[in-house]
Amino acid sequence: MTKPTVIIEESLDALTERVAEEFSKQAAQALSSRKHFTCVLSGGSTPVALYALLAQTARYRNGIDWKRVHFFWGDERHAGPDARESNYRIAKEAMLSPLEIPSGNVHRILGELTSAEDAAVAYDEELGRFFGLKPGALPRFDFVLLGMGADGHTASLFPGIPQLDDTRRRVLAPWVEKLAEFRVTLSPLTFNAAACVLFLVAGREKAPTLKAVLEGPRAPNELPCQLIQPDRGELVWALDQAAASQLKTCPLHQ
Ligand code: 6PG
Repeated sequence: MTKPTVIIEESLDALTERVAEEFSKQAAQALSSRKHFTCVLSGGSTPVALYALLAQTARYRNGIDWKRVHFFWGDERHAGPDARESNYRIAKEAMLSPLEIPSGNVHRILGELTSAEDAAVAYDEELGRFFGLKPGALPRFDFVLLGMGADGHTASLFPGIPQLDDTRRRVLAPWVEKLAEFRVTLSPLTFNAAACVLFLVAGREKAPTLKAVLEGPRAPNELPCQLIQPDRGELVWALDQAAASQLKTCPLHQ
């Protein structure tokens, strides 16, 4: 099991600053020896402030070599790029457009294709092309940003979906019964091949789930977040104090 690094900040603002700093450090490190920095963005509401901070703060806006940063997504709705719920649209408006990221650096999931399975296959091909992968090989993303739902899901790996123990595919297209919709998501296998995975989690309503994920028994079918254990990479849980409030390690309890 990968031992996670747990970062706890008092407020979501402070946490967002800390994660922006981490992102910038990782980008600089990767770009000092490689052509590209590859990052996977998350959906959900929590990272929107991070995207805006990276785009609007001079230190990041001018300090990161954005033309060499390539963006991917951890998951997507079965919906087009202009849909209200599109993870791509949210990141584009908060970060990619303001930073004028070249379109060739943006590798979105094509949620507008007729079936979610078609979108998953197309994304798998895109990963294969960009990373020059042989069939079955996994990409090694530099930085993966994930969130956690109060039900223990991450990306679109929801509790109980049959694909949770898939041992073959890079991209999945699960039917999510509780939402009555298809989603497209990277698989646990793909996330676990990354160099760094960072969960950004905030809010008191996440506290009991977070405790179960980090300190409870292993139950990945109910808590898919527990499946994320990079094989040869770093795992970071970046939390605000409200989310961390039930952890044994939380400063509130010391
Ligand atoms: C999505 C996500 C999802 C999200 C969590 C947390 O597409 O919605 O990738 O896994 O990260 O649901 O979302 P919040 O940040 O809104 O709590």
